[in-house]
Amino acid sequence: MAKHFKRTLVTAALPYANGPVHIGHLAGCYLPSDIYVRYLRSKGEDVVFVCGSDEHGVPITIKAKKEGITPQQVVDKYHKIMGDAFKEFGISFDIYSRTSNKTHHQTASDFFKTLYEKGSFTEQVTEQYYDEEAKQFLADRYITGECPKCANPNAYGDQCEKCGSSLSPTDLKNPKSALSGSAPVLKQTKNWFLPLDKLQPKIADYLSKHSDWKPTVYGQCKSWLESGDGLQPRAMTRDLDWGVPVPVKDAEGKVLYVWFDAPIGYISATKELMPDKWEHYWKSEDTRLIHFIGKDNIVFHCIIFPAMLMEHGGYILPDNVPANEFLNLEGDKISTSRNWAVWLHEYLLDFKDRQDVLRYTLCANAPESKDNDFTWKDFQTKNNSELADILGNFINRVMVLTNKNHNGLVPEASEYTKTDLLALEEVAKAPDKISEAIEKFKFREALAEMMNLARIGNKYLADQEPWKLIKTDEKRVRTIMNVSLQIAANLAIVCEPFIPFTSRKLFSLLNLQPMKWSSARNTNNIAAGHKVSDQSAILFTKIEDADVQIQLDKLVNAKKENAAANASLPEAKTETSFDDFGKMDIRVGTILEAERVPKTDKLLKLKIDTGIDKRTVVSGIAEWYKPEDIIGQQVCILANLAPRKIKGIESQGMILMAENLQGELSFVSPTKLNINNGSVVK
Ligand code: MF3
Ligand code: ZN
Repeated sequence: MAKHFKRTLVTAALPYANGPVHIGHLAGCYLPSDIYVRYLRSKGEDVVFVCGSDEHGVPITIKAKKEGITPQQVVDKYHKIMGDAFKEFGISFDIYSRTSNKTHHQTASDFFKTLYEKGSFTEQVTEQYYDEEAKQFLADRYITGECPKCANPNAYGDQCEKCGSSLSPTDLKNPKSALSGSAPVLKQTKNWFLPLDKLQPKIADYLSKHSDWKPTVYGQCKSWLESGDGLQPRAMTRDLDWGVPVPVKDAEGKVLYVWFDAPIGYISATKELMPDKWEHYWKSEDTRLIHFIGKDNIVFHCIIFPAMLMEHGGYILPDNVPANEFLNLEGDKISTSRNWAVWLHEYLLDFKDRQDVLRYTLCANAPESKDNDFTWKDFQTKNNSELADILGNFINRVMVLTNKNHNGLVPEASEYTKTDLLALEEVAKAPDKISEAIEKFKFREALAEMMNLARIGNKYLADQEPWKLIKTDEKRVRTIMNVSLQIAANLAIVCEPFIPFTSRKLFSLLNLQPMKWSSARNTNNIAAGHKVSDQSAILFTKIEDADVQIQLDKLVNAKKENAAANASLPEAKTETSFDDFGKMDIRVGTILEAERVPKTDKLLKLKIDTGIDKRTVVSGIAEWYKPEDIIGQQVCILANLAPRKIKGIESQGMILMAENLQGELSFVSPTKLNINNGSVVK
C-alpha cells in the first residue's frame, strides 16, 4: 500500500445516547482514535476527527418508556453527559455532533432517496409482530416470552440473556408485548431491503484489497461473506416512530434503520463542521477514511456502510477499520444493565485530574488483538510503578536538580561521554519507533516505546548520579543535566498523544511552548541558558491500597444490588423421603479455630468440635465472617459428608448456612445455650 494520501478523516463510532460513557467505550475506540489523531496533528498532517451521539434506535425508545420521558429527552440528557465526559478525558474531536439534528436528518434522508431512486432497494413484505392495543409494530426488543432453549420466561425477541442464545421473535413461546402486555399478532408489513446478496461480489472485491486490515477484522468480514449462503438482504427501514422518517410514499410510521442512518452521521458531522469543505474529505481519492470502532460494529462498517456508499456513488470507502476487541472489568464482561462498569464521570469524582492515569492504563491494556481485562490493582501498579516511579521520578529529579544546582537555567553541555552519546542516540530513535507502531494501530507497543524513553532517562540519571558528582565535578554535571533536560523535552513531545494533560504540564515545567513531532528526533530542543519553571514537579502521586479498595467495594456493591434486583427464590425442590433425610448426620458443633486459606478470597479453614471429634472443615464464608469473630460460634455441621480436598486441605464435613437473595450467608445456629456439641439436628 504505497498510496500517498493528502488528508485523513478519522471517525469514532457514534455511541448510543442511552447511558453514560464507561472505560470499555474509551478503550474500545475513543482513546485509540484520539491517540492516532493527536499524533497526526503533531506531525502537521491534515486530519479531521468526527464523532457524535447515535440518537435513534430501539434501546433509546425503551429507555424513554421506562423513565416516563420522551426519546428526545433521553438523548438530550445523555448527549450532554457523553460529550462532557469525552472532553474531560481529552478526546479531541473536531466535532461532537448528534443524529437527531436537522443536518443529519436531511443528509440521511437524501442518502436514502438517492438509493431509492436508483432502484438499489428491494421491497419486501414480511410478517412482524403487531400490538393491537398500542397499535404499533413491535421491534424485537419490545417482545418478551419464553426462551425455547432454556425456558427463561423473560427472554427478548432478539436474545435470551439467561442462556445467551440469539433468537428471533417468532421463536419465543407465549410472546408478550412490552408496550401493553398483550399477546402480539403477526401482521404483514412492507420494508425496503438492501440486497446485500446481489452486492456480495462488489463487497468481496473491495475487501480483498484490504487483506492488510487487522486479522481479527478481516477474519470476521471473511466469515460473513463465506458462512452459509453468504450475505443476505437486510431491511433498511423499520416500523417505528423514532428516527429519520422514510422519505418515500407509502411509508407512514416507518423510519430508517438505525444502522442505515448512524454511519451517515459521520458525513453529516463533517458537513456541519465544514459546510464548504466537507466534500474534500468524503469525495476525494486523496482522503484516507479510517473508522475506529469496537468489534460488535465490524459488519456495519466493513460491509453494510461500504455497500451503501458504493450504491450511492461519489464517496470514498473506508481505508481501514481498526476495530478493537472487548475490555472486561475485573474478569467479568462490562455490563451497563448490571452496573458492572467504571463510569468516566464517577472516575473523575474519585480521581480528580488523573485522566492520564486512566488513559495510560487503558492504552497499556488495550484489547487490540484479543479481549483484555481492566483491574484496579493493575491500574494502581501502572500508576505507581510506571507513571510515578519512572516518568514522574525522572522529571522530578531533572527539575529539582536544575533548580537547586543551576538556578533553574539549562546548563551547557561540554564533552559527551560514550554513555551520553548512546543515550542521545536512543532518544533520537524513539519517535520513529513510536510512529511506526502508531501507524500500524499498535498503540500498546507505541506506548511501551514512549515509556521506554522515560526509562532511558530515569536510568541515565540514576547511573550518572549528578547529585553526588556536584561536589567534585560540576562541569560533568552540567553535561549530564543538559542531556537529561533534552530527554525531558522529547518526552513532552512524544507523550502528548497518549497522556496529553501530562504533556502540557511537562512543557509548562520546562517553560517551553508545545513542540511538534518533527522536533522529537532532535536532541537539542532546549537551549543552554533557558530558564525552566521552579514549580513543584510532581506529575503523578501514588495511588494507595485504600483508594483501590474503595473502587473494589463499589463493584462488589453493584454486584449485590444487581443480584438483589434480579433474584427470585429458588424453586421448590421435588419431594424427598424421611429415610433420605435421616441418612444425614447433622450435629451441633463449636468453632475452635478459624483462619483464612491463603491465596483465596472466599475460604476459611475451621477446626470444629463436633462432640464426636475435632475436625477440619473448609468453608466458603470468608466474605461474610472474619476468622477472629467466629471463634466459639455454635454451628450445625453435616458430619457424615464424604471428605474432600479443597485447596489441598481435607475438608471433613460441611457447615449449614442460610443464603439470602443477595447471596449473603449466615450460620444456622441453636438459639438455646444448653444445646451441647454433638446434639443431633433432625
Ligand atoms: N451506536 C452504535 C454502538 O454504540 C455505533 C454506531 S457507529 C455508526 O454500537 F457508524 F453507526 F455511527
Ligand atoms: Zn434461554
